[in-house]
Amino acid sequence: MGWVERVWWGFVEFALAVVVVVVKGYPAEDLVVKLPGQPPVGFKQYAGYVDVDVKAGRSLFYYFVEAEKDPANKPLTLWLNGGPGCSSVGGGAFTELGPFYPRGDGRSLRRNLMSWNKVSNLLFVESPAGVGWSYSNTSSDLIRGDASTAKDMYIFMMKWYEKFPELKSRKLFLTGESYAGHYIPQLAEVLLDHNAHSTGFKFNIKGVAIGNPLLTLDRDVPATYEFFWSHGMISDEIGLTIMNECDFDDYTFDSPHNISRSCNKAISEANRIVGEYINTYDVILDVCYPSIVEQELRLRKMANKISIGVDVCMSFERRFYFNLPEVQMALHANRTKLPYPWSMCSGRLRYNDMDGGINILPILKKIIQNGIPVWIFSGDQDSVVPLLGSRTLVRELAHDLKFKITVPYGAWFHKYQVGGWVTEYGNLLTFATVRGAAHMVPFAQPSRALHLFSSFINGRRLPNSTRPPPS
Ligand SMILES: *[C@@H]1O[C@H](CO)[C@@H](O)[C@H](O)[C@H]1NC(C)=O
Ligand SMILES: *[C@@H]1O[C@H](CO)[C@@H](O)[C@H](O)[C@H]1NC(C)=O
Ligand SMILES: *[C@@H]1O[C@H](CO)[C@@H](O)[C@H](O)[C@H]1NC(C)=O
Ligand SMILES: *[C@@H]1O[C@H](CO)[C@@H](O)[C@H](O)[C@H]1NC(C)=O
Repeated sequence: MGWVERVWWGFVEFALAVVVVVVKGYPAEDLVVKLPGQPPVGFKQYAGYVDVDVKAGRSLFYYFVEAEKDPANKPLTLWLNGGPGCSSVGGGAFTELGPFYPRGDGRSLRRNLMSWNKVSNLLFVESPAGVGWSYSNTSSDLIRGDASTAKDMYIFMMKWYEKFPELKSRKLFLTGESYAGHYIPQLAEVLLDHNAHSTGFKFNIKGVAIGNPLLTLDRDVPATYEFFWSHGMISDEIGLTIMNECDFDDYTFDSPHNISRSCNKAISEANRIVGEYINTYDVILDVCYPSIVEQELRLRKMANKISIGVDVCMSFERRFYFNLPEVQMALHANRTKLPYPWSMCSGRLRYNDMDGGINILPILKKIIQNGIPVWIFSGDQDSVVPLLGSRTLVRELAHDLKFKITVPYGAWFHKYQVGGWVTEYGNLLTFATVRGAAHMVPFAQPSRALHLFSSFINGRRLPNSTRPPPS
């Protein structure tokens, strides 16, 4: 190369470097170059830590995936899993709505062709500290509750935006499932409080969507038994005893049994009949046998077991994959060499059980009164937080808001079939079921889930009609 070319290339490199620094101020050290056994993709992934309390040594782990195409013009979606104590990276990102699922060998990945990063940039956070690869150097920090979790997530978001300044003003959608029915609305409330007091930066919240969310124990807990009863999983006698004799009004996680003896007996009888060989998170799927799958993974056999098109052993493959040192290295995870293996739900966290009893409806009301659309969606095969509770709670919330029905209850369609049923109140509050979906909606119905999500972020209603498919 002559010096002219060298100078020219030097200039191009310099220009590119400037462009990269100015336009894309993303942290190079968090860039995930390639995950072990990952198929090649055209979008970027980042992962790493954000310290939320430097003195205590408390740090939250995140995984961020850019949208597949044109990420600069796509919104930002935060996703949280629940528990409390379960991993959003393991759950949401790698078995539900992210771009990759583990393969049956537990050592490589396959594409999820219905990943939500087709329509949005996706941010997954292990929250609170003690979950997944998030940690604290101060052991008393493992005592967590709803308020401290929301506060840490607020600090996280502020500091994460410093790593990704381009996304600060981007449309922000807050999403999650299960106990994130607590996390997401409470986080939204903290961010709205920030907005109300800030003269500068404001969070650009455009919507809140929660799947099979825990909203109030006194309605969501009886719904589980109604679901068992309506699906033939318990006898008529036991179902009726529970529905007639149990008073769930003061139900709390730590003393659920301030209820009559006959009620108590019926509940333990119900749990016994339902048994261990059913996946309560999706009652139509077969179960995966841990003893078999773990041996197959060790022996380098393919462990996947397909039931209704779904690999029901995926959670075991994921645990195997996430515990490979090369995977942790590629993700910049486990930087302090935690003295325990990665698991989907934390056994170390001491979460305040009483917080499960907090009524989330007034918080959803406040979010809606700020003009922010709220979608409650529900996989209709879930018995853990079944649609029976959520549907009633959404109606009660609509009543409280004095909202009229703006979409009458009816089927919505996807690929010429019923995707589920939907209703909308006051143009802002939507309740939608997803037909054939689990507690983890995108896990068993990725295609319907993506349709629902893209409608949500694009401010569109779900289609209420279909044509016959082309012959
Ligand atoms: C936590 O402890 C580790 C090991 O002593 C140290 O490297 C780290 O800086 C501390 N703080 C955080 C936030 O990790
Ligand atoms: C338990 O039930 C008794 C009798 O119905 C009631 O007086 C008491 O307040 C209840 N306690 C709780 C914690 O709900
Ligand atoms: C962290 O790394 C250590 C040492 O390599 C390993 O023993 C441990 O299982 C890892 N823990 C997690 C949570 O990944
Ligand atoms: C279907 O949706 C369209 C457009 O929102 C609306 O005009 C129509 O009334 C709806 N039909 C039914 C049966 O809900």
